[in-house]
Amino acid sequence: MAHEEVTRRGVQLLHDPLRNHGTAYTDDERGRLGLRGLLPVEVIPQDVQVDRVLENFHRKPDDLEWYILLTSLQDRNESLFYRVVTENMDLMMPIIYTPTVGQACQEYCHIFRRPRGMYISAKDRGRVAELLANWPHDDVRAIVVTDGERILGLGDLGANGMGIPVGKLSLYTACAGIHPAWTLPLMLDVGTNNETLLQDRFYAGIRAPRLRGDAYDELVEELVQAVTERFPRALLQFEDFANANAFRLLRTYRDRICTFNDDIQGTAAMALAGVLSALRLTGGRLADQRVLFFGAGEAGIGIADLLVSAIAADGLTTAEARARCWFVDSQGLVVSSRTELAAHKQPYAHDAAPVGDLLGAVAAVRPTILIGASGQKGAFTPDVVRLMAEYNERPVVFALSNPTSKAECTAVQAYESSEGRAIFASGSPFAPVEFQGRTLVPGQGNNAYIFPGVGLGVIAVEASHVTDEMFMAAAHTLAGQVAEDDLAAGRVYPPLQEIRDISVDIAVAVAEVAYAQGRAGLPRPEDLREHIRAQMWSPVY
Ligand code: NAI
Repeated sequence: MAHEEVTRRGVQLLHDPLRNHGTAYTDDERGRLGLRGLLPVEVIPQDVQVDRVLENFHRKPDDLEWYILLTSLQDRNESLFYRVVTENMDLMMPIIYTPTVGQACQEYCHIFRRPRGMYISAKDRGRVAELLANWPHDDVRAIVVTDGERILGLGDLGANGMGIPVGKLSLYTACAGIHPAWTLPLMLDVGTNNETLLQDRFYAGIRAPRLRGDAYDELVEELVQAVTERFPRALLQFEDFANANAFRLLRTYRDRICTFNDDIQGTAAMALAGVLSALRLTGGRLADQRVLFFGAGEAGIGIADLLVSAIAADGLTTAEARARCWFVDSQGLVVSSRTELAAHKQPYAHDAAPVGDLLGAVAAVRPTILIGASGQKGAFTPDVVRLMAEYNERPVVFALSNPTSKAECTAVQAYESSEGRAIFASGSPFAPVEFQGRTLVPGQGNNAYIFPGVGLGVIAVEASHVTDEMFMAAAHTLAGQVAEDDLAAGRVYPPLQEIRDISVDIAVAVAEVAYAQGRAGLPRPEDLREHIRAQMWSPVY
């Protein structure tokens, strides 16, 4: 009997991705843990396992196969997965996150192997707490929830959108050392209006049109209540909701619970950091910029709101600061004579003549900075970039839409149409560009620079709320990490390989704000940085 129990324990270990070390178990561990005979004899240390994973990785023919390989590894051995990812950030990040995660979501039900995270559906109204009780880990600290309606710039992907919470939480662990057992990806499955998915026999979400109105809000409310009861120390991050729900839910919950919307607030901090770095290159003052946003949704409005706070901190009034920000949406320039504007656009509707297209808007506004957050591929045409370059010695052009297939322009297009003068950043990565004997390195303007560090800071001091001031601090901290060499190459963000150190700096800055605002739930530790570092999980065994 005793022997049977020991043996089962060994098998359980090998099938528990959080604890499994596979062939790396030492001889002594194999004896103690009932693993003898369950593994080939030779002990293969973790660094050699990493090499084996990489060899397999490079044997695969395309990005989606890479994604499948990495997901399978994550399901078998999380430590090894995170060690592979953290030691090869440049290679792995575009696979576990944008752009490949976009393709993975489009095919999620076809490449499905094992479930990860939790699915709460419209059918679970009245029993959400019961479902959450099934989650095996009690001390969850970071939840990312989506309803799949606006996955990257790809639209409604229903329950297939689960790839996003899974990917974001992988970045919490990879970029900020949040323990994987502290993370919970959540899919709020409220149906989908995507006909292709509804017709797909592998689609595993609810086959019904999206829930709307009060029934939707009540389900979210039930989820929020159940989450706060079951996981009282958890930060709840909203991700990839369609904008009408995103803005409303943020307003409803931001003062009630520890929550933020990454598309609105995380993106804002990332973009502000990029703008601050770009100004080191152009020599301009923030308060003197004219910013034209292409896309007036969560990302664009979120960025503008934070930018306005930053400009106001430079001594301007909010109204003066808003006057520096202009928007183009699908109907053209956002101006005050338009009567159909959604509430989130109205503060940016200025008195000006209507303009139907982006080129005309650039001519009318003469922006120093152009920011794309529209999901419209190729919208920054050569003419648009050329006009930006005519008005500005160093035009700032950020094409933030994800994945790569939705970028407003590519790095090559931005440099070629501006004689290499554009300061360019994009949401998904582009390779460095050789231009007239120079190597120009585009920055990756992705909120992965921000949310893991913000999350770490919030979790480490058990902050009660996530405030705009925390995002402001995160933006300034990130901008402060951009070295002169980065700027010399044209890059307005620091290299991704430094992300863990950057996340610690951001976490410290966020935690400082939590203490200054009286939002921290823990007494201030003697050494805040040390306290934060001590919370970080290492994937090395
Ligand atoms: P959203 O749906 O809230 O907003 C999209 C906006 O684009 C809307 O204002 C819409 O009117 C506008 N738009 C659509 N078609 C247009 C057209 N033909 N011309 C002009 N405007 C048009 O979406 P959200 O959250 O703002 O995201 C937009 C894009 O930004 C997505 O591709 C998303 O992946 C990307 N994004 C990138 C981030 C990053 O880290 N780089 C973070 C968040 C979003």
